[in-house]
Amino acid sequence: MLENVEKVIQKAKKGKYAIPQFNINDSTSAKFILEVCEEKKAPVILGCSEGALKYMGGPTVAVNLVKGLIKDLNITIPVILHLDHGQSIASCKKAIDAGFTSVMYDGSTLPIEQNVKNTIEVVEYARKHNATVEAEVGTVGGTEDGITGGVRYASLDECIKMSKTGISMLAASLGSVHGFYHGEPKLGFTEMETYAKETNLPLVLHGGSGIPDDQIKRAIMSGEAKININTEIQNAFNQGIAKYYKEKLNLNETGYMLKNITGKYAIPFAKAIVAEKIELFGNYNKA
Ligand code: 13P
Repeated sequence: MLENVEKVIQKAKKGKYAIPQFNINDSTSAKFILEVCEEKKAPVILGCSEGALKYMGGPTVAVNLVKGLIKDLNITIPVILHLDHGQSIASCKKAIDAGFTSVMYDGSTLPIEQNVKNTIEVVEYARKHNATVEAEVGTVGGTEDGITGGVRYASLDECIKMSKTGISMLAASLGSVHGFYHGEPKLGFTEMETYAKETNLPLVLHGGSGIPDDQIKRAIMSGEAKININTEIQNAFNQGIAKYYKEKLNLNETGYMLKNITGKYAIPFAKAIVAEKIELFGNYNKA
């Protein structure tokens, strides 16, 4: 069932576990992520970046793909289709028009007043379409899909201002980075606790790949109710394909067929990461 984030995120916030946002980049990733989540009875947010949408063909393709998979695979868990890092009001509206049930408006590079003003416009539009909104303050470090940022911790003042816009979840950047970490992440746990309490909003942790398990657990206890994972899944998948070629593994006459190579050497490893994160986030049997 495609739904907005409100019910599942509030339940996670109360229950002190986190809903994963697993990024999808094509039909293969959408399918194997849904399969694992269904098996684990884990509500899921499927995140789609603007770059991924361009690669897939556009927001209508993503909506129809996910709806089709839900139907054909008999998926019964709550599924939220979410625009990741919407870079403009227009792209958020376009995704909502196509049927996305949630969007992130990322105005984090703008002055806070402008970020708040634009977020309100997205929230008002989303409400009319029963969709929910995530906003970002501070800056997530690293690079993802061409979007690069240096780490900038969100301030309490920014979070309070943003909390009054009607958003359903707040990405308050507190030291996480997209992509692989170089060294240990330095997450602001004290700030997380304060911001979660003062805003009363579920917090979102971007750049969830590569954060040690104990820090993930502490982040959830400190108020993070949505955690985004992309890099680790794609990496596991790609490493599987690399292994196939490097070790000259043989699928006999069908070795040229991508579906056979990914089916045997890539998808199982990517699925294992998805399952592992669901367990770590405490999100199993929550559907
Ligand atoms: P990672 O690629 O580091 O897992 O981050 C994903 C993310 O935050 C998507 O917005």
